[in-house]
Amino acid sequence: MASTHGVQGSRVLVASNRGPVSYAVAEDGSLVSKRGGGGVVSGLSAIGPDADALWVCSALGDGDREAVRRTDGRLDPADSGGQRVRMLGIPPEVHADAYNGIANSVLWFVHHMLYQTPLEPAFDTEFRRQWAAYEEYNRAFAQALADEAAEGAAVLVQDYHLTLVPGMLRELRPDLRIGHFSHTPWAPVEYFRMLPDDIAEQVLRGMLGADRLGFLTQRWADAFTACCDALVGGTGSTRTGVHGLGADADFLRARSHEDDVEERITALREEIGGAPGERRTIVRVDRTELSKNIVRGLLAYRQLLEDRPEWRERVVHVAFAYPSRQDLAVYRDYTAEVQRVAEEINSAYGTDGWTPVVLHVKDDFARSLAAYRLADVALVNPIRDGMNLVAKEVPVVSDGGCALVLSREAGAHEELGEDAVTVNPYDVVGTAAALHEALSMTPEERAERSKRLAAAATALPPAKWFLDQLHALGD
Ligand code: G6P
Repeated sequence: MASTHGVQGSRVLVASNRGPVSYAVAEDGSLVSKRGGGGVVSGLSAIGPDADALWVCSALGDGDREAVRRTDGRLDPADSGGQRVRMLGIPPEVHADAYNGIANSVLWFVHHMLYQTPLEPAFDTEFRRQWAAYEEYNRAFAQALADEAAEGAAVLVQDYHLTLVPGMLRELRPDLRIGHFSHTPWAPVEYFRMLPDDIAEQVLRGMLGADRLGFLTQRWADAFTACCDALVGGTGSTRTGVHGLGADADFLRARSHEDDVEERITALREEIGGAPGERRTIVRVDRTELSKNIVRGLLAYRQLLEDRPEWRERVVHVAFAYPSRQDLAVYRDYTAEVQRVAEEINSAYGTDGWTPVVLHVKDDFARSLAAYRLADVALVNPIRDGMNLVAKEVPVVSDGGCALVLSREAGAHEELGEDAVTVNPYDVVGTAAALHEALSMTPEERAERSKRLAAAATALPPAKWFLDQLHALGD
């Protein structure tokens, strides 16, 4: 098959909404690039330059769109650490309807079971209009992949933004080996089928266009299979597999000892206050997003201060809640609610020398690592989560070993449950009791558990996670 990208085309292709690089336009009009991280980035660097890999992604903001205009979408590999990237200049209104309207307001809500009746969901004509954009958006990816792939190439499609791509690509290029990986949970059939029947079927059939579908845990893979059995008569010839992405220990351990992290440790210690070693820390780091359950986490902390007044002045909740998907009112409102509840706790319980909640909302990776290092307890209480890497990263980085309070609904619980203190994410009183239990562990027990948590958390490093998927596709 002819390729528009060189004579041969690429042998390994990745497709995702968010690519490995983003751009901003500086005041002087130049483009400033910012590289991203994550499992796919590590995986692609691990396969080396010979594989002739290409990453197809979408322009997300004005800076990206300007970069696409200037480069025709074929970005300078120097901006993405040598990775070849083709960024698609999908019209902004189509992208907004597909990404905000369908992916983040519908599919994300279905898989994380976030809808609140009686207002939501209502699949009306506006939804149908946005769905058409989602189809167009998926078609643009399928077409670009079809244009760029070498004969028999392996294509790894990522996540809920691109569920229709495997089916569309299969029609355009039957020769390709197509994989799809879900980074989210998969909804139980009773919840999934709240989607209109034709849409639910389209999503499942779109995914089943792949040769192989990857999930983060067996639970999500089983839920997908159950949906297929109930709604489209089974998974046909498509295989499913489980690949539980782990923390990147080497990177995290090195990065968390760089100078900027040390500086932030000093600053954070000042915010925590008290005499050295006097105060314990409960750390959480999340994108501010409803499934992360940050508000109930704060309510549980307040309950702890109520039930166990002995912890007052002796503990600080360090909560980093970084803005996410701010085009959507429901995410903005949630950020405001997190801030409101944190302030309420501080004014109800704070004293001259003690601020019970140290909340930061400005994204700062070095400061997150500083908090990880200082963590005595990590609080990870999502309503549902595909995996949750924070649960895996904190035990790897924490200086003295940390206890982990972990929701049973996080994918990570399957691997870390034995050494964590498990919580039902809706149970505020139960979560308060779990925080007390975690804070009360002896330093020896905490260190022991933390060591085992770190070992389990790093069992499947990102590069291996990615290569396993590629091999399973027959490469
Ligand atoms: C989740 C999704 C990813 C997504 C990330 C950040 O982890 O599974 O696909 O990239 O959230 O969300 P955003 O909307 O900012 O890309």
